[in-house]
Amino acid sequence: MKFFLDTANLDQIHEVNELGLLDGVTTNPTLMSREGGDWRAQASLICEAVDGPVSLEVIATTHEAMIEEAMDLVTFGPNVVVKIPMIPEGLKALKVLHEREIKTNVTLVFSPSQALLAAKLGATYVSPFVGRIDGLGQSGMECVDQMRTIFDNYGFTTKILVASVRHPMHVIESGLIGADVVTLPYATIMQLMHHPLTDKGLAAFLADWDAFQKNQ
Ligand code: E4P
Repeated sequence: MKFFLDTANLDQIHEVNELGLLDGVTTNPTLMSREGGDWRAQASLICEAVDGPVSLEVIATTHEAMIEEAMDLVTFGPNVVVKIPMIPEGLKALKVLHEREIKTNVTLVFSPSQALLAAKLGATYVSPFVGRIDGLGQSGMECVDQMRTIFDNYGFTTKILVASVRHPMHVIESGLIGADVVTLPYATIMQLMHHPLTDKGLAAFLADWDAFQKNQ
């Protein structure tokens, strides 16, 4: 399972990269706007810093303007994946971008039927927003499970990129279902790593070793 970082923050990207855990990055307009400043410069730096796919999202809402924006976004680097919202105009843009062999990530996906349409039109990735689905009182992971079954039934190569991840169980369940990618906020990657019994156990080992050395 690939780990993408869901951020536009370069410090977080460098830190997770140093851990060796960074397979790619997903951004969105909210995450980019949080960083402030010149978004074009920020997007270039992100593409340079990441040895893997970087999703940059279009702002346009008509297919013509989305395609034009996509052609600009791909100039930021060879690793750019164009994020397209799951709306009818987005699907029209997706078809053209697929024909042009531009990698795409269909975002704001909340149902298996939406994922099926994106896969039929050649999306590289689909992003089910599991945390937001859970927030509606439905099951985000059940949606992902159904997407996995549909894609496998028909041999779709579109990758399932689990997004809007809120906690480590979303990651574990993604692994059990066989999702291709999870995109994680920085805090969730840190949560995956830490366990209080690891810290407690290490402190006890070191204290015992220290006592042993003093008695030599
Ligand atoms: C995915 O690509 C999105 O950027 C992201 O996961 C959205 O998550 P949110 O629900 O935390 O905003």
